[in-house]
Amino acid sequence: MKTTSVLAASAAVTCFALPALAEPQAEVLHWWTSGGEAKSVAVLQEEFAERGGTWTDMPVAGGGGDAAMTALRARVLSGNAPTAVQLKGPAIQEWYEEGVLADISDVAEEQGWADVLPEQLAAHMKCDGNWCAAPVNVHRVNWMWGNTEILEANGIEMPTTWEEFNAAAEKLQEAGITPLAHGGQAWQDATIFETVVLGMGADFYQQALVELDPEALGSDTMVQVFDQMRTIRGYVDDNFSGRDWNLATAMVMNGEAAFQIMGDWAKGEFLAAGKVPGEDFTCAATPGDGFLYNVDSFAMFDVGGDEDKVAGQNLLAELIVGPSFQETFNLNKGSIPVRSDVSLDAFDMCAHLSAEDMAADAEAGTLLPSYAHGMALRGEPAGAITDVVTAHFNSEMSSDEAVEMLVDAVANAM
Ligand code: GAL
Repeated sequence: MKTTSVLAASAAVTCFALPALAEPQAEVLHWWTSGGEAKSVAVLQEEFAERGGTWTDMPVAGGGGDAAMTALRARVLSGNAPTAVQLKGPAIQEWYEEGVLADISDVAEEQGWADVLPEQLAAHMKCDGNWCAAPVNVHRVNWMWGNTEILEANGIEMPTTWEEFNAAAEKLQEAGITPLAHGGQAWQDATIFETVVLGMGADFYQQALVELDPEALGSDTMVQVFDQMRTIRGYVDDNFSGRDWNLATAMVMNGEAAFQIMGDWAKGEFLAAGKVPGEDFTCAATPGDGFLYNVDSFAMFDVGGDEDKVAGQNLLAELIVGPSFQETFNLNKGSIPVRSDVSLDAFDMCAHLSAEDMAADAEAGTLLPSYAHGMALRGEPAGAITDVVTAHFNSEMSSDEAVEMLVDAVANAM
């Protein structure tokens, strides 16, 4: 007993005698659990540990992050928010309005973020003019991936219009090949839907899915979008329901399907499996002009002045936007760096195409936020649209009915 109290007393003395040196700590909530994703997030864990940080991992499986966001709400409601959270788009501002996000402007200013981040993308990281999130990458959503061997064997080129896509799909079906690898989860249906909307024109996309213009939502063009969704529904295999996106990517890899429509995190899967772009698989933008961006980012939650956690948040923010992490992480993730000063020499042809298109689309005013990946809209209207899209895709609902439902659902969600 006596020894214990002496030790406790001397520990207390030591503690008060030495100046407190914060030890960076972070509990990090994210949904990067697939092969390519896990490899990518490991880069951040390693850099954090090298700089003396202690990382507590809180992965919540589920593509697109729906399950992670449910877990986040539960943690915040119980007064125990994680230190750092994978959070993006308007959800950042929604959480800021709840008064639970930390201001990371000191790090951002010290590291000169304003000089190296494109303005349009940096705007997503600001809350009331202050920096409240750290951007990781630029994913492009409107990609189509193809199995080169299948395409060559069937004399098929990557389609540049939906008519060409439909013709290719029918040819493949006649040859007994599943045209499209798809996972029937609401966010994956929404991912295809937004590429079809974009295919009708970047202006139409902007009006319908960014501005939520009732005329665009209820237009004949939108009827055509749902017609194409119905056609696409005919090109997936019988077991598509509930399938994870990375398993759909594996179908393209293994020659079980010809195409997948998915953001370039799919490329992270191909690469993690040792597949080579241009040889084993190929990439092309989905039909139509424009670039749908999906910028992953991390927001820091208020930790009530806990010095170790604040040090962890500052270190994480610094590393995330740092040039070394931006290069290594994005080489694994399938995305491109969000910093404009990172060399793309080590990146592959799909990344180069992405960077070129992004620059051209920024110039043309057709660099647009992805609705399906939470960049364009707040939670309620986005959820309302996805509910209609997935209800239509998984039933015999007509295009006219879907359009009517869409207009009503959006009106009720505003
Ligand atoms: C996206 C996210 C990507 C990728 C994908 C599949 O929403 O931005 O980084 O992880 O989900 O989980």
